[in-house]
Amino acid sequence: MMLLWKLVLLQSLMGCLAESSVLQSPVFTKQPGSIVYPVENLERTREVVFSCEAQGSPPPVYQWKLNGTEVSPKSGSHYSLSGGNLRINHLNKDQDAGTYQCLASNSFGTIVSREASLTFAYLENFKTHRRSSVSVREGQGVVLLCGPPPHSGDLIFSWIFNEYPTFVKQDTRRFISQETGNLYIAKVEPSDVGNYTCVVTNTVTKTRVQGPPTPLVLRSDGVMGEYEPKIEVQFPEFVHVAKGSTVKLECFALGNPVPSINWRRVDSIPFPRKVDMRKASGVLEIPYFQQEDAGTYECVAENSRGMNMVKGKLSFYAPPQLIEKPQDAQKLIDDSLVWECKATGKPKPSYRWMKNGENLDSAEERIQVANGVLSITRLTLSDTGMYQCVAGNKHGEVYANMELRVIAVAPDFSHNQLRSQTLVKVGGDVLIECKPKMSPWGAISWRKGSEPLRESNRVSILDNGNLRIWNATKSDAGLYTCVARNQFGVASSTGSVTVKEPTIITTLPSTLDVSVGESVVLPCQVSHDPSLELKFTWFFNEQLIHFGSHGGFFEKVGGQHSAGDIMIRNVQLRHAGKYTCAVQTKVDSISIAVDLVVRGPPGPPTSIHVEEISDTTASLSWRPGPDNHSPITAYTIQARTPFSLGWQAVTTVPEVVGGNRLTATVIDLSPWVEYEFRVLASNTVGTGEPSKPSKQARTKGTSPKVTPANVSGGGGSRSELVITWEVSIYSGCCKIISPCCEMFPENHC
Ligand SMILES: *[C@@H]1O[C@H](CO)[C@@H](O)[C@H](O)[C@H]1NC(C)=O
Ligand SMILES: *[C@@H]1O[C@H](CO)[C@@H](O)[C@H](O)[C@H]1NC(C)=O
Ligand SMILES: *[C@@H]1O[C@H](CO)[C@@H](O)[C@H](O)[C@H]1NC(C)=O
Ligand SMILES: *[C@@H]1O[C@H](CO)[C@@H](O)[C@H](O)[C@H]1NC(C)=O
Repeated sequence: MMLLWKLVLLQSLMGCLAESSVLQSPVFTKQPGSIVYPVENLERTREVVFSCEAQGSPPPVYQWKLNGTEVSPKSGSHYSLSGGNLRINHLNKDQDAGTYQCLASNSFGTIVSREASLTFAYLENFKTHRRSSVSVREGQGVVLLCGPPPHSGDLIFSWIFNEYPTFVKQDTRRFISQETGNLYIAKVEPSDVGNYTCVVTNTVTKTRVQGPPTPLVLRSDGVMGEYEPKIEVQFPEFVHVAKGSTVKLECFALGNPVPSINWRRVDSIPFPRKVDMRKASGVLEIPYFQQEDAGTYECVAENSRGMNMVKGKLSFYAPPQLIEKPQDAQKLIDDSLVWECKATGKPKPSYRWMKNGENLDSAEERIQVANGVLSITRLTLSDTGMYQCVAGNKHGEVYANMELRVIAVAPDFSHNQLRSQTLVKVGGDVLIECKPKMSPWGAISWRKGSEPLRESNRVSILDNGNLRIWNATKSDAGLYTCVARNQFGVASSTGSVTVKEPTIITTLPSTLDVSVGESVVLPCQVSHDPSLELKFTWFFNEQLIHFGSHGGFFEKVGGQHSAGDIMIRNVQLRHAGKYTCAVQTKVDSISIAVDLVVRGPPGPPTSIHVEEISDTTASLSWRPGPDNHSPITAYTIQARTPFSLGWQAVTTVPEVVGGNRLTATVIDLSPWVEYEFRVLASNTVGTGEPSKPSKQARTKGTSPKVTPANVSGGGGSRSELVITWEVSIYSGCCKIISPCCEMFPENHC
């Protein structure tokens, strides 16, 4: 009954939250601070107010605790509440002093504020009215005790010498301890004789009381000789100083002559500049205390008779400060929660956790608290509430507040319907996810059609509720319903499974063989389920082919439905490679690859060398270029001279240079001419590009091989004989090689 009521409440809360997010867990906007109440005021106002304010919706209601016990601001009591503020009337020093905390609650839970103390400051009167006189010898040191009366709140001490308003002035010889109120005179002089009265002022109540006067008299039995310093006022051996605060250390010595007081750090680190050493004689004051000011300090009292020294250790402390705070959490039943709180501080803070204003007891095994970590497993509705992590050291506490909402949900598919249609190919695997929202997680069952699903070695319900079918068959098609159930309800969601024929590529994988310049069709034909659309994609050497680019060589020629053929027009050598046809349907994707071999004329031979050259012959060597998939059948050699018109075929030995030769001798060259040679390779597809020219090489020179012809003489004048002849040149001379033209230009070669 209780659970149900809570559930209804939560669900209505959640419902409202969904519509307008006005609901909010309580958050403090104001927390109480400590109060020191001056007792002298009790007669007049006699009331204090601790403030506390929290936001939240529904609006928070407030409670207060004193020393951990609830106070009841009922009518007639001296407590009253206005908003979250606690007003205490008719203050009573004995009943009302203590530690106060404010609690703010709404339907989300309760949070508790930091602690605030109420203390009463007061200063009573001195009880004694007479003090016996103190007699000392001149030159001796003396301590006059103040002995302040009962009090609370910080005190300031001063001393009246004889009559008000003459106060004792502090100097190297006289010192008033603000710790004890005592007056120290290092070395008594005759002028010190008189009546001394301690004056105590409470800084909170501003009240001031005077002690009984103490007469100081000189003894007449002589003067005290010199003696070494004796430290009478010393600071504690261990002092804890809060970060940022000001610390004052007192040190004063009696002695004759009057000792000097000096301060130093034992680790001989110099004092920081913030320490005013001019002030420091009996008091060393360190403002804004920081970690680096921690250490051992030493006070040295010295006079001509000797020295005396005291030490004390200052340690640094810092109240805790939060550096990591968990976020509010909303969880389902049976989920788990881990929250971590982290705080800095010196000493290292320790942690405790609270739930709805009470310390969290981890009596239940599923609730664990370790340092700053709270973990709860198997969450239940009753874990809902406000949580607080409290990090504290002996110098303070900090609170981090978090909300945990554990929600109950009846099974709900509204955000996670089953996939309405699942396609699978025959022999394929299928997973149907069933992910309702429900809290706690309940039971999942499946129906096929209207029958409970029968599991088999191919069909099984997984632990997470999903359904898995392996190696699907046509009989697996149908409507599947996932039914989810927990103690709060039942819900179901239905989807269909459709089983399709697999897609198969019917073209046999093959190697295609074409010659440069031809066109070729790369086939890709499939058989497939006619109800499925096909998508063909082609790759050339694993790169996607974009039809319409690639210089327009590639073209789709496949039909509408089952063919993805493509054609390559005017095939070039660079089109050789691996072509992959990929086919995709909604149920599968397959691919097939074809190797395209492109045959072309051989590539240019390389490394043409003139190995030897004579006057009319040159022997050449070369290396073969690529054969482009057709063996080289022959090489042709061409030559060029500065006089020839471009490249000309030359006569070689052997006359026909076979495809497996890599040398040949060129004959019938002209002497004394610069030649360049190049080699061309041929195969059954054609003759390829010529090689690069060889280096220039000059044939050797030689004497003319023929005698002049048709020599004749005659004619001329008396003393002359004209002899004429004709050069016998073979007809090819000027046609091929021109050195003869150079030698005999008049021959009109
Ligand atoms: C609350 O606790 C403090 C410290 O223990 C004590 O001094 C004070 O008297 C207590 N106050 C009341 C009302 O019990
Ligand atoms: C000190 O006080 C006593 C008694 O009140 C008085 O007799 C005496 O004269 C005072 N001494 C001085 C030096 O004022
Ligand atoms: C899938 O089922 C078919 C017939 O239903 C069977 O021949 C085949 O071996 C099965 N394949 C696998 C991997 O179980
Ligand atoms: C010599 O002259 C004759 C007659 O003019 C001519 O037929 C013949 O070809 C010439 N021979 C040569 C080598 O030029």
